[in-house]
Amino acid sequence: MRILIAAALLLLSNPLQAFSKTGHQLICDMAYQLVSDTTRLQIDSLIAASPYQQFSQSCSWADEMRADPAFDYASALHFVNFSRDKKQVSAADCPAHGCILSAITDMQRRLKQNRNDWQALLFLAHFTGDLHQPLHVSFADDLGGNRTAVYFYGLPNNLHGVWDFALLKQLGYETDANKAAALFNRISAKQRSAWRQGNALSWANESAALTLGIYQGYTPGMLIDDSYVLQYQAIVEQRLQQAGVRLALLFDQSLDATVN
Ligand code: ADE
Ligand code: ZN
Ligand code: ZN
Repeated sequence: MRILIAAALLLLSNPLQAFSKTGHQLICDMAYQLVSDTTRLQIDSLIAASPYQQFSQSCSWADEMRADPAFDYASALHFVNFSRDKKQVSAADCPAHGCILSAITDMQRRLKQNRNDWQALLFLAHFTGDLHQPLHVSFADDLGGNRTAVYFYGLPNNLHGVWDFALLKQLGYETDANKAAALFNRISAKQRSAWRQGNALSWANESAALTLGIYQGYTPGMLIDDSYVLQYQAIVEQRLQQAGVRLALLFDQSLDATVN
């Protein structure tokens, strides 16, 4: 019984905090291909100083080290919440202890200041991915959907988990590497240059707009199946592509002096 209670507490106290490993890997793979050669060399040397062999494998580090109390400060940096009566998120929604918006700025600054700061690289990679998962820009009352129950193909799940993991798995990205390559190859030059506009706040507001729609379509205990997956497939895929393009931009800004 005690073990059961401990397990339940662990589950409750540890809401899912990120796009799945698959999602982060996909985004980092795309960014790695899009950065300048100078930036890619810098990334390689930062990764050589990290516990990882390959950059794309490292983009869930920010989740994996959450058990380490030394990184407690970072647990609020995976998301930003805004009021349910508002249509937009603003910089003022970022609390004093920080949020995903301040974290992205901070990690860029850390990388510029110290070219050996591999932790800043991995945080920046991870948070830029999270920023594009709509429910990482969401509402505090249900922990960004972690406490909002749904059924996914008949099994109990929560809205946040559907957007972190279940949709990507259902769309085949967990098992089919060709799908990831095809997604990357579908990014046009026009999209790439359009998506490089803006900043973390405007990208957060794209997530906020999607979140408002996701909650408009939510009914308690709702059943999520093929029609929902079909409704959101293009959006999920575009968020992954945008995250890849924008992560490459943020890396170039931080690691390649010729970009600025
Ligand atoms: N905890 C509280 N709000 C959250 C959010 N929007 N995303 C992930 N975890 C959260
Ligand atoms: Zn995260
Ligand atoms: Zn998440």
